[in-house]
Amino acid sequence: MPSQQVFKTQDNALYTTSTGAPVAQPYAAQRIGKIGPLLLQDFHHIDLLAHFDRERIPERVVHAKGAGAHGYFEVTHDITDLTCAALFKNVGTKAPVTMRFSTVGGESGSADTARDPRGFAIKIKTEEGNLDWVFNNTPVFFIRDPAKFPHFIHTQKRDPQTHLKDADMFWDYLSQNPESIHQVMILFSDRGTPNGYHHMHGYSGHTFKFVNASGKFVYVQIHVRKDGGCKTFTDDEAGKLAGENPDYGIQTLFEDIEKGEYPSWTVYVQTMTAEQAEKFRYNILDLTKVWPHKEYPLRPVGKIVLDKNVENYFAEIEQAAFSPSHLVPGIEPSADPVLQSRLFSYPDTHRHRLGVNYSQLPVNAPVAPVANFQRDGAMAFNNQGARPNYQSSIVPLQYKAKAYENVQHEIWLGAAQADLSEITELDFEQPRALWQKVFSDTDRDHLVHNVAVHLKNAKSAEVKARQLSVFAAVDQTLSDRIADAIGAPRVQALKAKPAAEAVRFKVSGV
Ligand code: HEM
Repeated sequence: MPSQQVFKTQDNALYTTSTGAPVAQPYAAQRIGKIGPLLLQDFHHIDLLAHFDRERIPERVVHAKGAGAHGYFEVTHDITDLTCAALFKNVGTKAPVTMRFSTVGGESGSADTARDPRGFAIKIKTEEGNLDWVFNNTPVFFIRDPAKFPHFIHTQKRDPQTHLKDADMFWDYLSQNPESIHQVMILFSDRGTPNGYHHMHGYSGHTFKFVNASGKFVYVQIHVRKDGGCKTFTDDEAGKLAGENPDYGIQTLFEDIEKGEYPSWTVYVQTMTAEQAEKFRYNILDLTKVWPHKEYPLRPVGKIVLDKNVENYFAEIEQAAFSPSHLVPGIEPSADPVLQSRLFSYPDTHRHRLGVNYSQLPVNAPVAPVANFQRDGAMAFNNQGARPNYQSSIVPLQYKAKAYENVQHEIWLGAAQADLSEITELDFEQPRALWQKVFSDTDRDHLVHNVAVHLKNAKSAEVKARQLSVFAAVDQTLSDRIADAIGAPRVQALKAKPAAEAVRFKVSGV
C-alpha cells in the first residue's frame, strides 16, 4: 500500500495519546484521592474509551466474512485488438493488486467453510484508474432480475422472529424462482465448500464489453483460473472444520503467503461479437447461463500472484471498497440488469459503510492521480489543496478526449432484457448438462446428499415438493433420488414454456 505509513511490530514506539502527547502509564486514570471518582480533565482516559466505543464500523451487508492479501497483475498476452485499456497496452506490464475472498451469507464471525458461493474481489490499480473485478467463484448466479436480490438475500440470512437461519425460507425462495437452479446445482456440489479461499477460480459471471482503439467492441466473460486447480471439501469435512477452525480460510491464506507459497491465477477472456451474441442460444445478459468453452474458447490475458500479506487487516482488507463500477476506459459494463444495479449498489453501500471519502483510504486510493471537483465531507484527507473546486477558465484542468463513442447494441438489447422472470426450457439445459455430462458418479452422489441434508430441514411439504419439481425439470432421476433421501413423495417436473418461446427469440426474430 503506497500511501500508508508502515509500522513495524517492534519499533520501540513511545506510548502517546491520539494527539501524540506522551503518557507515562497506560492504565492510570486521574481521580480524586486514592478511591474517589474519575476526572473529566483526564484526556488520556477519555481518549482511550471514546475511541474504543467507536471501533466497529458496519460489516458488509453481504460477504461480511473474508480474507485478503496483496500482489500483482501481470499482462502476459497482447489483447490490444480487444481493448484499449492502458493496463493492456504492453505485455509485461505489472499493476498492484488487492484481493478479498469471502463467504456471502454469514456474519463476520461465521465459518469460512460454510456452504455458500465465495466472493472473489480484485482491485487492480492501473495507470488510468482502479479496475475492480468483483467476481464470485461460480460462473453463474441465482438471479437475473436485480429486484429479487434483497428478497433472495433475506431468505439466506436470519428469520426476523427466531433470528435463526431457516430452511423453509431458504427453499421457499429458490423453489419460487427456478432460474436459480443452475447456481443451486453448483452450490450443492462440493464446489459449494471450497478448501479455504485460495484454491478456487473466479468468474465475472456478467458479460462486460471490451472496446479497442478503433471503437470496436466485443462482449467478454472474464475467467480467473487457479494455477494447480481447485480444491474442495466434502460436506462432512466442511462441517467438522466449521466447528474446529472457523477461520480455516483466513489462516491458510496467510500461512501459505508467509511460507512463500504464493497463490497464483491465470486470467482468460471469452469473447463474442455482437452478431454472435444475437445468434447464441442463450441470452448473454442473463447471468444464470455460461458460454460453452468449445464454442467460445478461453484466451489467456495475464496472471495474478498474491505475494504479500497485509500489515493491518482492518486498514487493508476491511476498509477495501470494491465496485463493478470502478472501471477504466476500454472496459465497459454490458446492459445486464443485475450488473447495472450493482454499478449503483456498491459505491452506495461504501458511502454508508466507510464514508463519502472511501476512495481516499490508502487501500482504495488509485495510483493514478485524482483531479476533480469533489471536495470536503468527513475525513477528506486528500482535499486537492488550492486547486479550483469548479470548472475554472483561469486554472483549467486538462481533459483527455474519449477514445471512442458510446458502444451500444440497442435493438437487440431491448429484446434480450425483456421479461426476466419468465422460465423456459432453456433454463434447465445447462443444469441438465452438469448433472448428466459434467458430474462424475461421486459428484452426483454428493449433490444428492448435500441437498438432502439441507432440504430435509424444511418443515413445509409444499416447499419441498416445489423444489423437487424444479430438480425434476433438470432430471427426473435427480429429483427422485433427493425425494427418496428425504422421505418425501416423488413429484413431476414443473411446466416451463418451450425454449422457442423465450422472449428474445420472439422479439429479435433470430
Ligand atoms: C458484496 C450487492 C450481486 C459479488 C456486496 C455488497 C453489496 C452487494 C451491497 C457489500 C459491499 C460492501 O459493503 O463492501 C449486490 C447486489 C447484487 C449483487 C445488489 C445484485 C443485484 C453480486 C454478483 C456477484 C457479487 C452477481 C458476483 C458475480 C460480490 C462480492 C462482494 C459483494 C465479491 C464482496 C466484495 C468485497 O470483498 O468487499 N454485494 N451484489 N455480487 N458482492 Fe454483490
